[in-house]
Amino acid sequence: MPSSNFELRRKLLQLEALYDVGRALNTLRPEPELLEELMQRAIAVLDATSGFVFSLDDKLTVQHQFVFELEMPAADAVLAEPPVRQVLASREAMSLSVGKFLGGPASDLLIAPMVAGEVTLGVIGVGGKEIRGEKSGAFVEDDLRFLSSLASIGGAAIDNTRRFHRLDLMRETLEDENRSLKQRMLRDYSDRLMIGESPKMQRVIDLVARVADSHASVLIRGESGTGKEMVARLIHGNSPRKNGPFVAINCAALPETLLESELFGIERGVATGVEARPGKFELARGGTVFLDEVGDIPLALQAKLLRVLQEREVEKLGGRRRIPIDVRILSATHRVLEEMIEAGSFRQDLYYRLKVVEITLPPLRERKDDIPRLVHFFLDKYGKREGLKDVRITQEALQKIMRYPFPGNVRELENLIEGALALTVDPVIDPGDLLLPETVGGVDTGATTGELVSLDELESRYVARVLAHTKGNLSAAARILGIDRKTLYRKRLDASTNAPSENIWDIH
Ligand SMILES: Nc1ncnc2c1ncn2[C@@H]1O[C@H](COP(=O)(O)OP(=O)(O)OP(=O)(O)O)[C@@H](O)[C@H]1O
Ligand SMILES: [Mg+2]
Repeated sequence: MPSSNFELRRKLLQLEALYDVGRALNTLRPEPELLEELMQRAIAVLDATSGFVFSLDDKLTVQHQFVFELEMPAADAVLAEPPVRQVLASREAMSLSVGKFLGGPASDLLIAPMVAGEVTLGVIGVGGKEIRGEKSGAFVEDDLRFLSSLASIGGAAIDNTRRFHRLDLMRETLEDENRSLKQRMLRDYSDRLMIGESPKMQRVIDLVARVADSHASVLIRGESGTGKEMVARLIHGNSPRKNGPFVAINCAALPETLLESELFGIERGVATGVEARPGKFELARGGTVFLDEVGDIPLALQAKLLRVLQEREVEKLGGRRRIPIDVRILSATHRVLEEMIEAGSFRQDLYYRLKVVEITLPPLRERKDDIPRLVHFFLDKYGKREGLKDVRITQEALQKIMRYPFPGNVRELENLIEGALALTVDPVIDPGDLLLPETVGGVDTGATTGELVSLDELESRYVARVLAHTKGNLSAAARILGIDRKTLYRKRLDASTNAPSENIWDIH
C-alpha cells in the first residue's frame, strides 16, 4: 500500500510536470533557454544526479548544449559517445548502464531523442546514482516513458521555434523587397519622387503598384493639387508601356471643337488653311493617354470618346478613315462624377469605362503626418534651385504650416515653400517667411474678414509687407519682388498718393 501510494504520487508528479512543460514551451522562446528548461525539469522530476541536452541543426552538428554535473563536451564530441550514437541511430528512448559518460561516474542512464516528424532535433538524457552504491536511485520503466514524453514535447517546441524564426526571416526579407520595390514605384518615369509615408498614401501607392502592370483604365480622383497627375505619371512609368509616350490632355482648357481635334486629330482642309494633324490618341500609340479634368468634357464629345474607347478606333475630324488606337487610358477629375451623372451632365456608360479601377487621393489635411517630409522635400528642391545651402525651417514655422488646412493641397504647400525661399534673406525659414493666405504673412488679403480687395490694393499691401521685412531696404525689397529699384520706387509713390494707412514707408 505505501509503495503503490508512492508510485501514484510519482506518476501524478510526472504528469503535472509534463503538463507544465507543455504549457511553458508553448510560448516561443530562444532555443538555448528551452533546452535548459527541459533538462532542469527532467533532473528535478526524475531525481537525477546528472543530465545533458543538446540540439542538432539540419547538418546534424550540435547547435546548443547544456550539461549538469557532467563535463561539457567539446564541439560535437557528445555525438561520439556510444549511448548517444545508439539513440540517434534507433530514434528510440533507452535505458542503460554505463561505466563512464561525459566524465561522470558509472551510472544508470536514460536517453531520449527529440524528434519532429522525420527529423531528429536533439537528444536529452539524465544519469542516476552510482550503480555500485545505493540501488534505490535506479530508474524505473515509467521514468523512461516520462523522459520520452518530455523529449517529444521538446522536439515539437524546437521545431516550432525554428519554423517561427524561418518565417520571421522570410517575412523580413519580403518586407525589405517590398520596400525597395515600392521605393522604385515611387519614382515616375521622369524620376520624380512621390512622398507619402502616411497610411492613406501607402494605400494609394499599393494600389498604384498593383494596377500599373495591367492595361486597365484608371480614374484618379481627388481635390485639386493632391497629386492626381503625379499618380498618372507613376502608373505610366511603372507600366509595360513606360517606353511609349505619356500624352496628357487637359479637357477643361479647350473649347469643344478644339478639344475634339486635339483628341482625335483633324484632316487637311477641314477649314481653309487647316493642315492635317494627328490627335493625341494617335500620338500616344504604344503609350498612355491621360485625360485630365475628364469631368469637363462636354456631353457631345463624351459620346464620341465613348465610341473611341469601345471600338478602339478614332476618326479624325473631317475624315472618313478609321485609325486603330493602341493606348491605355488614365483619367483624372476633382469633380463628383456621380452627381454629374444624376444631373445628366456626365454619361454613366463613359463613367464605367473610365473607372475600371479607381484611385482616390486623400486631401493633405487628412494626412498631415506627410507634411514635414513634403516640406523638407520642397525645401531641398527649391533651395538647390535658389542656390541656397543647408536650408532649414524653424519649429515655429513648421507648426504654422501644420495648423494650416491647405485647401490647395500639395501644390499649395509646394508654392508656399517656393515662395518662402524666394522671400527669405537667410537659409532659415521662419514664420515670417510663410505667406499663408489668411494673412499673406501679415498682409491682410481680406480672406479672413471676407473683405475682397482689388489687385492694386493687394499689391500695395504686399509691397508694404516686403518693405517691412527688409526694414525699408529698397534694394533688398526689389530683389525679393523681382522688380527693379526704380519700379519699386514708383509703386511706393503711387501707393503713398493712395494714402496708405500704415506708416511703414519711411525708410530708416
Ligand atoms: N506626394 C507628393 N510628393 C511630392 N510632390 C507631390 C506629391 N503630390 C503632389 N506633388 C506635387 O504637387 C503638385 C501638384 O500635383 P499634381 O499636379 O499631380 O496635382 P493634381 O491633383 O493633378 O492637381 P489639379 O487637380 O490641380 O490638377 C505637383 O508639382 C506635384 O509634383
Ligand atoms: Mg492635375
